Amino acid sequence: MSRMEEIQRICFNRGIIFPTAEIYSTISGFFDYGPVGTLLKKKFIDYWREFFVKSEDNILEMEGSIILPESVFKASGHLESFVDPIAQCLKCKSIHRADELIQDKTGKFVEGKPVKELTEIIKKEKIKCPRCGSELSEVKLFNLMLKTEISPLGGQTGYLRPETAQNIFTAFQRLFRVARSKLPFGVAQVGRSFRNEISPRNFIVRVREFNQVEIEMFYDPEKPDCKNFDGVKNKKIVIFTRDAQKNDKEPIKITAEDAVKKKIVPNEWMAYFLAKEFEFYKSLGIPEDALRFRHMLPEETPHYSDGNLDLEIKFDFGWKETVGNAVRTDHDLKNHMKFSGKDLTVTTDDKRKIVPNVVEPSFGIDRTIYGILTHCFIEDKKRGWNWFKFPAKIAPYTVAIFPLVNKDGIPEKSMEVYKTLKKEFDVLYDDSGSIGRRYARADEVGTIFAVTVDYDSLEKDSCTVRHRDTTKQVRIKIKDLVSIVNKLINKEVDFEKVGSPIK
Ligand code: GAP
Repeated sequence: MSRMEEIQRICFNRGIIFPTAEIYSTISGFFDYGPVGTLLKKKFIDYWREFFVKSEDNILEMEGSIILPESVFKASGHLESFVDPIAQCLKCKSIHRADELIQDKTGKFVEGKPVKELTEIIKKEKIKCPRCGSELSEVKLFNLMLKTEISPLGGQTGYLRPETAQNIFTAFQRLFRVARSKLPFGVAQVGRSFRNEISPRNFIVRVREFNQVEIEMFYDPEKPDCKNFDGVKNKKIVIFTRDAQKNDKEPIKITAEDAVKKKIVPNEWMAYFLAKEFEFYKSLGIPEDALRFRHMLPEETPHYSDGNLDLEIKFDFGWKETVGNAVRTDHDLKNHMKFSGKDLTVTTDDKRKIVPNVVEPSFGIDRTIYGILTHCFIEDKKRGWNWFKFPAKIAPYTVAIFPLVNKDGIPEKSMEVYKTLKKEFDVLYDDSGSIGRRYARADEVGTIFAVTVDYDSLEKDSCTVRHRDTTKQVRIKIKDLVSIVNKLINKEVDFEKVGSPIK
């Protein structure tokens, strides 16, 4: 079993993530988060919010509608340009992404080529249907948005949004007023997005319904400086420049400040977010050598962007974009002004009437979660089971409680400990099977501490605490558990010093 298959097996079996409606023949590209996955995702979002929203004084959060009228996507350009090239098998009728049938000499899929050229390459290189080996049709463009009819009589077309961003642009006037009509300001949104992907693949990496967290950071294009830039300017980030991509060179490591000075990154706002993202992803347990920002080549850059520096993670199947960082300029606000007839300009302190510019970090939650699952996964022959070394901030469960035996007042005492800890942490209670099996189950979902309640717990109010990462155990007083666990997850004390060690 490959590493990826083993991760999926644990996800399916332990209530982390599994296919949607799998009792029926499933449609690919949809996944449900089970109880453990829901906690992981919730904690990831809380941590993201703490890192990118609460830590700033000029970023607000909103929650917009998922279905939006067609007019929004006419203006944003999605109706015309949010397309992928497809080719259909003339025999078995299966549909394929045309750009993924063709690889360049380095093995990379070709992207951004016009349909005519793709059709010619398919013919010239005699590329056949990957499923049955038959002839393929001419290449056509396919719009990735999912369409729906609004109102009982129909006639009003809506789309499930393909990105969370558009709510922010369409509500811009109101949001700007809430921000006391001052630039720069940002708006964040956490929510679902939908894309009718032609070939969903790699578990939750490319799906049809997914979760995004996006920030639209509005600023005056004549004053693109970021006031908090000093705090990050010396932080180093890894950038895979266009030059390095074209000439087979390695990515460069450079400070955020130098990246702006050398015009590798277009402005301070973009560099600010890149530096924060790099720190954030490292703190999620993803090593630095599995992270890089790739300057997208012109032909791959989305229709709304003046340039993208996307954060990529190295997965088992290769590098994959996980955060799209786009310079959206005034593209969206200008087009919404044109199509809606509403004035979305703002007046600056020095009385200039402008359309704000935007940089946009757009995080894929599911892809990030797969990045975390991949890089926190420990294959552990010594223990005899594999487990996830989730950082404390996002571990679904902080503590597991195990009654040693199910008699003599131990279950009651264990329940008491469980209820007390539950007020502070996410806690798992497990009273079935051997202690070894219970450790294995707790480790498999990345639970940081396992507390065993035994006969001494009844007499001396003490319990055994085992640490997930080392399997070392200490004996501590039950009355001190909450404060010790808090200190441990905040890294204020060493595990081995909080109680008497157990050999
Ligand atoms: N608002 C800009 C935007 O949506 P994007 O690069 O198309 O940009 C941003 O998407 C992120 O959303 C991606 O980097 C990825 O993590 C996630 N994403 C996009 N399509 C996805 C899909 N089909 N399945 C899972 N995640 C997806």
